[in-house]
Amino acid sequence: MPKVAIVYFSETGTTHNLASAVLKGCRSDGDAVATLYRISGADIVEGRFRQRQCLELIDDSDAVIFGSPTYMGGPAAQFKAFADATSDRWDAQMWSGKVASGFTVGANANGDQLATLQYFSILASQHGMLWMGLDIPGGFDPQGRNPSGSQLGLACHCLTPEPDPANLSTAEYLGARVAMLSGQLSTSP
Ligand SMILES: Cc1cc2nc3c(=O)[nH]c(=O)nc-3n(C[C@H](O)[C@H](O)[C@H](O)COP(=O)(O)O)c2cc1C
Repeated sequence: MPKVAIVYFSETGTTHNLASAVLKGCRSDGDAVATLYRISGADIVEGRFRQRQCLELIDDSDAVIFGSPTYMGGPAAQFKAFADATSDRWDAQMWSGKVASGFTVGANANGDQLATLQYFSILASQHGMLWMGLDIPGGFDPQGRNPSGSQLGLACHCLTPEPDPANLSTAEYLGARVAMLSGQLSTSP
């Protein structure tokens, strides 16, 4: 039974809607247990992320999917505060062998979303996690998923909080893929 944690920040709801679609995809794998954790400003006290519950959720998961809007060419500061708080886990490589993936959104078609996904994959690698991208070739999917052609993870753009159906179905696919493959690797009963 794979356990998947979806840890994300969203200010105006776009990333939250993507996270909900990722969750739906995870749950399409009947065996998977998937949980959303939405980072909030209140989790950060005097600049430090202080929410142990979030870190313990990942401790107890087989996979984690990171999400953040792209802000100024990278993850939002709230997400980075969370990432910095994982350094205690890094010391002991507590998350080594877990599966990781990620998603991001920006307002522009090329708004440097790639840098956010690269940051997520580096964070995962620092923890010894196994990064999982998207195996949908942009422009060659009969269902039109992955319209941006991003294969490191889901990257999209939109100007309203509701991503278009192609990106929502890409998000579902990403969740289903992580649940399925982490289930194959999982040692959880
Ligand atoms: C401080 C700030 C910085 C931003 N920087 C970028 C950027 O570098 N590239 C981009 O495409 N969009 C950028 N945006 C737009 C957001 O990524 C976009 O509105 C996103 O959908 C917000 O996600 P949310 O609704 O989950 O909060 C920025 C927005 C803010 C508020």
